[in-house]
Amino acid sequence: MSVVEPEASANSEPNPHPLRSFCKGTPPLTARLEEWMISLMESNTDVLRSAVAEYGSPLNVISTGPFRRHVESLNSVARRQNVDFRVFFARKANKCLSFVDAALAAGAGVDVASGPECAQVLQQGEAGRDMVCTAAIKPEGLIRLCIENQVTIVIDNFDELKTVSRLAQSLQRTCPLALRISGFEHDGEKLFSRFGFDIDEFGALCEVLPVVCPELRVVGLHFHLDGYCPRQRVSAIDQCLPLIDQLRTAGHSIEFLDIGGGLPMRYLESKHEWNSFWSAHEEALRGHRTPLTWRNHGLGLQINGEQLTGKRNLYPYYQELVREDWLEAVLASPGTSSPTIAEAIRQRDVQLRCEPGRSLLDGSGLTVARVEFCKRLPNGDHLFGLAMNRTQCRTGSDDFLIDPILLRDSQAVEETAREGYLVGAYCTESDLILMRRLRFPAGIGRGDLIVLPNTAGYLMHFLESRSHQFELARNLVLESDTQLRLDAIDA
Ligand SMILES: Cc1ncc(COP(=O)(O)O)c(C=O)c1O
Repeated sequence: MSVVEPEASANSEPNPHPLRSFCKGTPPLTARLEEWMISLMESNTDVLRSAVAEYGSPLNVISTGPFRRHVESLNSVARRQNVDFRVFFARKANKCLSFVDAALAAGAGVDVASGPECAQVLQQGEAGRDMVCTAAIKPEGLIRLCIENQVTIVIDNFDELKTVSRLAQSLQRTCPLALRISGFEHDGEKLFSRFGFDIDEFGALCEVLPVVCPELRVVGLHFHLDGYCPRQRVSAIDQCLPLIDQLRTAGHSIEFLDIGGGLPMRYLESKHEWNSFWSAHEEALRGHRTPLTWRNHGLGLQINGEQLTGKRNLYPYYQELVREDWLEAVLASPGTSSPTIAEAIRQRDVQLRCEPGRSLLDGSGLTVARVEFCKRLPNGDHLFGLAMNRTQCRTGSDDFLIDPILLRDSQAVEETAREGYLVGAYCTESDLILMRRLRFPAGIGRGDLIVLPNTAGYLMHFLESRSHQFELARNLVLESDTQLRLDAIDA
C-alpha cells in the first residue's frame, strides 16, 4: 500500500545561531529550537540562572505555545480532508498539568495510562467523556474511576472485559468501551503487538460481547502501533473499517476509530548532519577513526570483524515526514475500497481519533543543569560533571542525540577548548548524560549551565528516578518572556 508523501519542508542547513557556538558534538547534531527557547537563553540567562539557584539542578522548563499550535495544525489537516477528527493528548509523555490545561483549552481530549493520571486529569476539570483510558494494566480502582466518570476504557483482553462488566454491574452503570485490535497484516507480514485482541480472534470477541456485557456500550475501535511508519497505519485503518461495519451490523453504535500515537517528530535541523553522524559512527566502530561515543558505545550497533550487526537503539531524531504532514499522507493514501483513506472514513461516518504524546510536545520544553566540575582523564579527554543523572533526560533509547547548549557563567573567562563527556551524579561508571563526545571551543567550567533542548516528550519524566535520594527535577512553566512559575504537578 503506498503513501502519498508531501514535499519535505526541512531546511538541510543548520541555523548558525551564536548560542550554539559554545558546545558542539563531534560531529555536530544541531537542535531545532523554538523562539521562546532562544529568547530565554539569549537575553535572560539570569532568569534561568536564578531559577536553578532557587529550584535546584536539573530544572525542566516548559512552554505550552507549541503544543497548542500542533493541535491546531492536526485539526486543520482533518478540516481540509473533511474528516470528523479529534486529538487526544497522551499524557504519559509529560506529567506537567499545564499540558492537560492546554489540551482542554484547545478542545483536545486526554489519553490516560494510570489511576493517578486519570484522577489528576479529572481534577483539572476535563470531563470523563473527553478522556480515554489506555492503561496497559487496569486495576479495579482505575476501572471504577473510569466507570464512575464515564471515561472510555480501551479493552485489551478478555479478563479485562469481564472485570469491567462485573464492576459496571455492581455500580449499576453502563460504560463506554473501545476494543483494542492488533496483529494487522502489512506487506505480507503480521504486525506483532503484546497489546489488544489479535484481529484473527475478532469473530470470537464479537460472539462473547453480548454474553459478557450486555450493559456495556462498545463505541469505538482502537489500535496503537509501534514505530512511526505511515503505511502501517494505512494498512491498520483499512483493516479496521470492515470491523466497524461488522460491529454496527451486530447492533453496536460505533462512534470512532482511534489510531493511537506514534506521530513522528523531528528534533534536528539537518538531514545531512544526521546521515554524516551515522557514517562517522560506523567508521569509528570499525576502528577507522576516533570514537564518537563513550568507550565507542555502539548505540545498538555491534562490530563483528568488519561486519556491523544489530540496529540503532534510538529514536530517529531526524525524520522527513512529521506530524501534520504525516497525518495528511495517511489520509490521502488509497484505501482498499475507496480512493483515499479520508474518503473511506467519511463514508463510514465515524470520528477519527489519534493519541499523540511526543509530537504534540515538540518544542515545548528544555532541561537545564549546572556544571559542577571539569576534570582531565589520563588519555586527555575531559569529564564534565553535571548536577543531574541520566534518568532525567532519557527514554528507552541508548542516547539523547542532540547537541546541548552551553550558557557560560558571567564570571567565566575565555579558556582553552576542551573535549569530552557530560557525566552524572549516580555512582555507576555508566551514568553519562550524553554518550556522545562534545567539544567546548571556548572552555567550560563549574557554574556554567548546560541546556538540553526539546526534552518535553518523555525525556524529562519517563525514566526519572529518586535513586540516591536525589530530589526529582522541578518543573517550571513559562508564562511570559521572563515569568516562570511552578507547574501544578509540583505546587
Ligand atoms: C496506547 C498509546 N497511545 C498513545 C501513545 C503515545 O505515543 P507517542 O508519544 O509516540 O505519540 C502511546 C505510547 O506508548 C500508547 O501506548
